[in-house]
Amino acid sequence: MIGSKRVVFSLSMLLLVFLAGVNPWPAGADETDTLLTQAKRVFGPLPSAIPSQRNPITPEKVALGKILYYETRISVDGTVSCARCHPMGLYAADGLRKSIGNNGKLNPRNAPTILNAAGEISAHWIGNRLDVEDQAKQAIMGPPSFGMPSYEAAERKLREIKGYPPLFQKAFPEEKEPVTADNFAKAVGAFERTLVTPSRFDAFLKGAKTALTEPEKRGLQTFMQTGCAGCHSSPYLSGQMYQKFGILEPYGKYTKSADIDEGRYTVTKNETDKYVFKVPILRNVEKTAPYFHDGSVDHLYDAIWIMGKVQLGKELTKAQVDDILAFLRTLTGNIPENALQIPLLPPSE
Ligand code: HEC
Ligand code: HEC
Repeated sequence: MIGSKRVVFSLSMLLLVFLAGVNPWPAGADETDTLLTQAKRVFGPLPSAIPSQRNPITPEKVALGKILYYETRISVDGTVSCARCHPMGLYAADGLRKSIGNNGKLNPRNAPTILNAAGEISAHWIGNRLDVEDQAKQAIMGPPSFGMPSYEAAERKLREIKGYPPLFQKAFPEEKEPVTADNFAKAVGAFERTLVTPSRFDAFLKGAKTALTEPEKRGLQTFMQTGCAGCHSSPYLSGQMYQKFGILEPYGKYTKSADIDEGRYTVTKNETDKYVFKVPILRNVEKTAPYFHDGSVDHLYDAIWIMGKVQLGKELTKAQVDDILAFLRTLTGNIPENALQIPLLPPSE
């Protein structure tokens, strides 16, 4: 009874609104068109994979790379694989403030997701790795990562595992001795280059105007209007530039960071690079707490508010933050089915 009364009431309200010539839908068709045109310009289409001239993607490399991603036997204590700190089920981040590597060693920064990361200008918060291949190679000898004493030692370990030489041979058919650290990096890199996660936002960018709800569209609008998109643009919502964290106020004021990281300065030694970090991608950001390079902030709501304050000098209202949050949630995408299936590792003997 009550339900049908409500329907009658809503219908008469609609009629009234119609007669009064008021558009009952807050974002009308024209407004959505404008928003869509702007968004297409700022973000651009997400590719289906992220190619590289130096490391062309082949199915054989991707298959090997996925296996190597889970391989712990090449780490110094036999417990560390990429998947330990970038588990697929957790959107390829580990949920820790700072990751723990071989023999319980603490990493200096928070582990970002590797989903879509191949699309960034460099790897790591301070950009001290060229690309995903360079990153994968250096992880082998990274003291808080795999901790191997040398690439040769890692190569020996891989060659001793009987199942690997044939798999490397298949992925690198031209090479006489394919089991190398460089090919480890190329295989893992090729796998990472397939980890693109299209989401509801991409459906919207392709023209499905109803793919986003009203609050999500308002959030997108606010994200562009307040200036977030000045840094978080591109199909990945950045990973394309370095910027100071804490332009208008020191970031430590709101993040409760335990220590202050000098950022890219440690790479370049340029005074202007102090507290400069790579602008992180925001795809799947809802799923990759805690936030910032030091994992010092637990909630995405707070991370958004802090960004407004220290990057833009704006005190965002609760409504604005809620809308941006709703928009950022539309960036949670589909992890490729293949990547979610954990592979069988080749036998040692
Ligand atoms: C012990 C934990 C740990 C292991 C093991 C590990 N990573 Fe990471 N990864 C991290 C941390 C922490 C960072 C951030 C480092 C920094 O910026 O200082 C990172 C950064 C990255 C990045 C850069 C992402 C970006 O947005 O800049 C990529 C790509 C990546 N890792 C891939 C891999 C791959 C592939 C492997 C295996 C070969 C691997 N990682 C092994 C913890 C780990
Ligand atoms: C001037 C450039 C700039 C602007 C403007 C900017 N950001 Fe950022 N953003 C960054 C940088 C740099 C970081 C990395 C901070 C760090 O070192 O942890 C970041 C980090 C983030 C993070 C944390 C991501 C993660 O994975 O830890 C979120 C969320 C975020 N920004 C959202 C926003 C929102 C929302 C706005 C607008 C209110 C905004 N940003 C405006 C540069 C910017």
